[in-house]
Amino acid sequence: MAAAALVPLAVAFLFSLSSAASPVQWGKLDPHFYDHSCPQAQQIVASIVGKAHYQDPRMAASLLRLHFHDCFVKGCDASLLLDSSGSIVSEKRSNPNKDSARGFEVIDEIKAALEAACPGTVSCADILALAARDSTVMTGGPGWIVPLGRRDARGASVQGSNNDIPAPNNTLPTIITKFKLQGLDIVDLVALLGSHTIGDSRCTSFRQRLYNQTGNGLPDFTLDASYAAALRPRCPRSGGDQNLFFLDPVTPFKFDNQYYKNILAYRGLLASDEVLLTGSPATGDLVKLYAANQDIFFQHFAQSMVKMGNISPLTGTDGEIRKHCRRVNHN
Ligand code: HEM
Ligand SMILES: *[C@@H]1O[C@H](CO)[C@@H](O)[C@H](O)[C@H]1NC(C)=O
Ligand SMILES: *[C@@H]1O[C@H](CO)[C@@H](O)[C@H](O)[C@H]1NC(C)=O
Repeated sequence: MAAAALVPLAVAFLFSLSSAASPVQWGKLDPHFYDHSCPQAQQIVASIVGKAHYQDPRMAASLLRLHFHDCFVKGCDASLLLDSSGSIVSEKRSNPNKDSARGFEVIDEIKAALEAACPGTVSCADILALAARDSTVMTGGPGWIVPLGRRDARGASVQGSNNDIPAPNNTLPTIITKFKLQGLDIVDLVALLGSHTIGDSRCTSFRQRLYNQTGNGLPDFTLDASYAAALRPRCPRSGGDQNLFFLDPVTPFKFDNQYYKNILAYRGLLASDEVLLTGSPATGDLVKLYAANQDIFFQHFAQSMVKMGNISPLTGTDGEIRKHCRRVNHN
């Protein structure tokens, strides 16, 4: 009952945002892009995200991650959503996405509802950006105005997906470089990783830390020993690859700053989480700031999400507005 009552509240909140002033740069995009061509667009997205979140409390996390995995591979162009077909090799096959990325059925449902309301108008890339914002709000995180007008790619890059999305065992310098290549700085990195306050990881994404972090047969010494011991039964040396663990076991379904508190207690689940504290003073100071001040975390997160959503969008007559998010219009 409580969760069902939250949905209309969250939708009402999203609309209260649309008249707020903001100093943020929209780039080529425009929050009012669909005001005349599809005025119901944002409400349609929010209501289907709300329903999906109510049916599956993990879905908000999965949808938030889809926008990230889309934007980091040749821009926010919905390339991630294409299935393999003809010359297209789907990004869903890449290491970061295989057996991991989820929520595609929810995007399909949103797209079908938008095609019924305003045919050929709202891009799949914009659906991902809106669903990421709505997912954050519906789990208790900050809201922001979503710049719109992205168009959809006619191709995918499984190689880009493998190379450009950071891996959980990348070093901090490698992670910083991969963000910098997208125009994102250290503040963006530490703030955006706060997404790991919700959602799950598979055992295979952090097993190395439990048994043999650096190849010397020892666990990662930056992982709390009792936490590691609690993780091992369901993440053995071999087997159980797909077993799921909360990224933030303290408040797994709440978008808050608990993620940073976990890191300070050496209870970041992924090596890439803990390394924010142990890898450099600059990132470590941001972890401490966000752990101490949730308001600043929320402000930075919202700003950095807009920045991430601005990565190389297709606009104007580039790309297309797909009719179905899983395939290009003509191939
Ligand atoms: C250094 C950068 C990052 C790395 C290495 C990383 C890595 C990962 C890994 C390994 C998982 C678990 C996947 C699995 O085992 O199935 C995960 C989950 C997740 N990631 Fe990240 N991530 C990063 C940045 C981000 C960013 C920027 C966002 C969003 C803005 C994000 C949002 C999420 C969410 C919400 C989940 C949970 C998804 C679910 O439960 O379905 N991550 N990430
Ligand atoms: C990182 O993880 C991948 C996939 O499990 C593995 O092949 C690779 O050896 C690891 N790299 C390092 C430096 O540990
Ligand atoms: C740890 O990893 C190294 C390098 O990958 C390997 O040579 C070694 O056998 C592993 N040790 C254990 C105890 O698994």
